[in-house]
Amino acid sequence: SLRARLIGFGSYLPKQIVTNADLAERIDTSDEWIRTRTGIAQRHVAGDGETAVSMAVESARAALDYANTSADDVGAVIVATATPDQSFPATAVRVQAALGMTGGFAFDLTAACSGFVYALATAEAFIRSGQVRKALVIGTEVYSRIVDWEDRTTCVLFGDGAGAVLLEATEEEGYGILSTHLHSDGNYGDILFVDGPATPRPVLHMQGREVFRHAVAKLSSVVDEALAANGFQPQDIAWLVPHQANLRIIEGMAKKLALPLDRVVITVDRHANTSAASIPLALDEAVRDGRIKPGDLVLLEALGGGLTWGSALLRL
Ligand code: ACO
Repeated sequence: SLRARLIGFGSYLPKQIVTNADLAERIDTSDEWIRTRTGIAQRHVAGDGETAVSMAVESARAALDYANTSADDVGAVIVATATPDQSFPATAVRVQAALGMTGGFAFDLTAACSGFVYALATAEAFIRSGQVRKALVIGTEVYSRIVDWEDRTTCVLFGDGAGAVLLEATEEEGYGILSTHLHSDGNYGDILFVDGPATPRPVLHMQGREVFRHAVAKLSSVVDEALAANGFQPQDIAWLVPHQANLRIIEGMAKKLALPLDRVVITVDRHANTSAASIPLALDEAVRDGRIKPGDLVLLEALGGGLTWGSALLRL
């Protein structure tokens, strides 16, 4: 049977870095408050010419180069983003054009911070069904353009960036994406949302404590679900690559899996929360610096606005 294997990785971070100290000059906050509550020390913020599309294209090119693959061979481009440059056309078709593709199909999907896991699961379904042989899955976000920079309870948490993976169909058993599990519960839609594009000044709204509480419980259960579905024990996991919202949530998941923190890829300190881009950014970093190796069992998990949450278990 067909499976989807990850063969390419790429990412892009804006040039400009904004530290906690920089924020403390503009709003009533402190490096100490931000670090102890979230683990964040700095974030990258998009400047002129850095957009959801441009960052997605850079990360996609890097993923294609990594796999020595031409864009002409790609059958689908799926972009997860909550911060598109335009409502339509989709970010993904702009990426498709920038890569010089004239075939295949491209679309965006929205699942907030779970977007990358949702996009990976969607691409995998196309590959398993035999409809697509190679797919680019991209998370790209410019939250700096939708946070209220006067609201200290939210603006300190987010950063900009993009990450991409290239998937390829394989017949080899036991490799690639082993399982994905997606969940949502729209009853919690109001604890984390962004105003629609028709709102004069759309911004992000979040009840931080409520989101935190749901994150710990729901991520725990989706991790158990992933292990049980594959007959694995926590100790079988070589690497946890979690969505990077808050170091305390990440530490909670590591503890649950009895994984030492040096088996968890952590970028939240340097990237802050880049929403749908955080997992592919972390994956790219850890694959390129040699931490994650071929054959490693890797667990991805995320929770975001919706609420949406999910996991993907893969063997590289
Ligand atoms: N600097 C200084 N003080 C602050 C700041 C700040 N940046 N932000 C809030 N405070 C103050 C508050 O005003 C409050 O003061 P008060 O007690 O006088 O009212 C106090 O700090 C405590 O605020 P809480 O919100 O209770 O702080 P908490 O410990 O819950 O931490 C945080 C807040 C970091 C947001 C935490 O709740 C969290 O991480 N939640 C999860 C968020 C998350 O994961 N979001 C992303 C989901 S992904 C997506 O889809 C976008």
